[in-house]
Amino acid sequence: MEEQLQAIRAEALAEIDSSADEGAVEAARIKYLGRTGSISLASEGMRSVAKEDKARVGKLLNEVRESVTAALAARREALQQTKDAAQFADLDLTLPGTGPALGALHPITELQDQAIAIFRRMGFALADGPDIEDEWHCFDALNTPADHPARNEQDTFFLPDGRLLRTHTSTVQIRTMTTQPPPVRIIAPGAAYRRDEIDATHLAQFNQMEGLYVDERVTVADLRGTIEFFFRELLGANAKCRFRPHFFPFTEPSFEIDIKAPALGEKWLELAGCGMVDPAVFDAVNARRGDNAYDPDRYTGFAFGFGLDRLAMIMSGTPDIRYFTENDLRFLRQFER
Ligand code: DAH
Repeated sequence: MEEQLQAIRAEALAEIDSSADEGAVEAARIKYLGRTGSISLASEGMRSVAKEDKARVGKLLNEVRESVTAALAARREALQQTKDAAQFADLDLTLPGTGPALGALHPITELQDQAIAIFRRMGFALADGPDIEDEWHCFDALNTPADHPARNEQDTFFLPDGRLLRTHTSTVQIRTMTTQPPPVRIIAPGAAYRRDEIDATHLAQFNQMEGLYVDERVTVADLRGTIEFFFRELLGANAKCRFRPHFFPFTEPSFEIDIKAPALGEKWLELAGCGMVDPAVFDAVNARRGDNAYDPDRYTGFAFGFGLDRLAMIMSGTPDIRYFTENDLRFLRQFER
């Protein structure tokens, strides 16, 4: 019996050690440790071992079972390691890795941030308002009467409840003045909406930046100085501004601002609207506030607004506004810095 066990052990260990794969290891396990395996049969044979030999033979039997079990586990582990190593054989850890693709800010966002930074230096704070507005904030309070063409259903998007998508960021002038007393000095970048036919220069959603400065003794000279400083900072010291008389319902007098800069070519470009806040706007704000905080006899102010998309198009020589919304990386990558 003991010789037989020694023989089984020697045979099993040799067979396990030379198993070439998982399948062969499993076959060896069944052959020696399975229900009818030779080690299992040997333990049944324990019954016929003489009493005085039982302890010694039993001990040997256990040793054989343990060493075969351990050999099976060791062989499995070794085979797995060989497999793993083969998988990494071609991997050269000294090669440089593939860097993650970094995103970048959208060109309109870049321009908006630049503009904010310039106005910040002149003490303008950021202000905000909702894209979904009511007619009062978008029109009435801005001295735009009910029969004004901008209020035509064809000109913006109305919600079933009568609210609308704001047609300009001038709404934030009203939002700001109804919630805080003068002086105010704010800029408000944001989306504006119109029911325009989409083409190379029009989108139904575009981006504006609004400005408002209200205090005692604010004059057209302040307006002009602020606008000139802004465009010189943005476009270079040689940028020139021209103010042309114009009409906006919420400013009086009103101007259109033309810019000429070497970086933008020879022509005067119409880039913004502006003017001195119409006292009728202060009246509307006071009526809503229920006080006389924006007393038109005490306060004056200027406002301006310009289109960020149009400015970005001109500055980058982009011929079609739709490129800014199409997310074509060949276009956007040109703006990466
Ligand atoms: N809200 C005007 C527009 O969308 C732009 C504008 C003109 C804003 C004159 C102003 C302003 O604040 O004073 O066309």
